[in-house]
Amino acid sequence: MNTITTKLLDWYARHARALPWRAPPGARTEPYRVWLSEIMLQQTTVATVRKRFEVFIRRWPTVQALAAAPRNDVLAAWAGLGYYARARNLHKCAQAVVNELDGAFPRTPEELKKLPGIGDYTAGAIAAIAFGHPAVAMDTNAERVIARLFAVVEPLPDCKGTLRAHAEALLPQEAPGDFAQALMDLGAEICTARAPACALCPLQEDCAARARGLAEELPRKRKKPPKPRREGRAFWMPRADGRVLLRRRPDEGMLGGMVEIPSSDWDGAPPPFRGHAPFNLDFEPLSAHVRHTFTHFHLSLKLLRLADPLPTQRARLLPLPPGWFWHPMDRLEKAGLPTVMMKAARAFLSIS
Ligand code: ADE
Repeated sequence: MNTITTKLLDWYARHARALPWRAPPGARTEPYRVWLSEIMLQQTTVATVRKRFEVFIRRWPTVQALAAAPRNDVLAAWAGLGYYARARNLHKCAQAVVNELDGAFPRTPEELKKLPGIGDYTAGAIAAIAFGHPAVAMDTNAERVIARLFAVVEPLPDCKGTLRAHAEALLPQEAPGDFAQALMDLGAEICTARAPACALCPLQEDCAARARGLAEELPRKRKKPPKPRREGRAFWMPRADGRVLLRRRPDEGMLGGMVEIPSSDWDGAPPPFRGHAPFNLDFEPLSAHVRHTFTHFHLSLKLLRLADPLPTQRARLLPLPPGWFWHPMDRLEKAGLPTVMMKAARAFLSIS
């Protein structure tokens, strides 16, 4: 084994983080747990996933249980984890594994990648960690460690192929899962994006970036264009008996299938107020805005609420479009609102 790999695995054997989805170094984890944790960890921090993983596993202990769950329950359980297409794909993937593969996850990255929601990184991680298949899993942590170790100065994403090739050259055939997780942990704990702790690093003598004084600068990144700003309006419609009007978004597009406070499109130009207010009711604007950043844009939501709660009898007569419903305001956390809508709900509630 390459001496760098040996040092890395020795370090992992002593310092691996204990995480709820993880077996100790040298042991394998059930594929369902590896898959679920890796989907949750795409774009969400370990600290957040730590809390949410166990809740999911307790509720749906097997891939069969998850596949059989109503989709809206899965979307609601995902609320707050962001990137909701992941929850839709999670459910589709569980159903594909159960219905088409007899409940067994494929063992190779090529086969895994055919399933919904599984890309290069996740396929490599599942194959290596759950099945001991010799594959690398290049997430941002692994990319940073490798870029520094070999002083790759070409910016991301152009250098992805080079980084993968360096990682594959170090990959131990007999311990690919520990290798993948060792790179993740080293990147998360020592070889951090800012102020890396080189003095504690098991690879400090091997690190080309450190030798050249470049560690903090790498990996370089190609400059991204700034995110556009968009604007929308959310309409808070309480009813005298303590319910509020919510609706489910269409399946396609942003936050597809999630529940929301009825809102305008987020298309930038503010539309004439009247035309966009539901049911021609009388709304008053709040002074507060809600700001939220998505992958491709910043959103500013203006908040409007009914001047007075609707009398319950009158509210019952409103012609609700399909997917609209009255929900108790004291149980909003159970409604499965995505983070941007939870922020808006909190703003409405603390003011009203
Ligand atoms: N980030 C993504 N996958 C991870 C894992 N299995 N362990 C720790 N951090 C991770």
